[in-house]
Amino acid sequence: MLVAITREPSASLGRCELSFVAPQPIDVALAFAQHRSYVAALVAAGCEVVSLPAEPELPDAVFVEDTAVVVDELAILTRPGALSRRAEVDSIGVALAPFRRIARLIAPATLDGGDVLWIGRTLYVGRTARTNEAACEQLRGLLGPFGYSVESVPVTGCLHLKSAVTAIADGVLLANRALVDVGRLGGARIIDVDPDEPHAANVLRIGARLIYPSCYPRTRARLADFDVIEVDASEVIKAEGAMTCCSLVFTGQRGGL
Ligand code: GLY
Repeated sequence: MLVAITREPSASLGRCELSFVAPQPIDVALAFAQHRSYVAALVAAGCEVVSLPAEPELPDAVFVEDTAVVVDELAILTRPGALSRRAEVDSIGVALAPFRRIARLIAPATLDGGDVLWIGRTLYVGRTARTNEAACEQLRGLLGPFGYSVESVPVTGCLHLKSAVTAIADGVLLANRALVDVGRLGGARIIDVDPDEPHAANVLRIGARLIYPSCYPRTRARLADFDVIEVDASEVIKAEGAMTCCSLVFTGQRGGL
């Protein structure tokens, strides 16, 4: 079974953290409606969705991906790079506890899950303003015993590694090469985003299906060979979010520890 943990957007989403995106007014009612479509896409792709209530005082709490790294053997709660986001983590730990043994990154580590691209037995970790080398070291200590390696990858000009590159099939990545050196990502085939759509590299892959925002038609055309579910995500994109940010997807069943 595939599980997707999501969280309703906060009414305070308009006060979210912004790093590389200019502020624009966010229509919270529209964000709620779009989130419902995103959840429907997760269900259509085969996920059982665990939907958490909104955290009204935590503007970025809809971006649950940043709060944990979940592999088959373990869930690691993160220490998000933005101070305003640290209070998002504990409730995610409660939601993950029925499915995984829980570990936790500790200071001085900072890490956003959006910086972690998991391919096979390697976790590529973006070195960004949110994620530091201490986090990579702690991940190595926690995941090395399970046979994972952790590779640190420089990222420039965007918030997270997965703003620059995501996996869309086994051995295939969608990427903006201006933001990350794709040569460091294990020799996968690269599909480039359209040059007019530099933010279009974030896709949520669920098995053979891809959940993708409808606002990048040129890059979408490059995904013609894939099974794509399009969703309107204008409001989370204004909040410097994307497709992977809004869920934590993993295999599991309750009590399957
Ligand atoms: N607004 C997304 C983030 O900065 O974490």
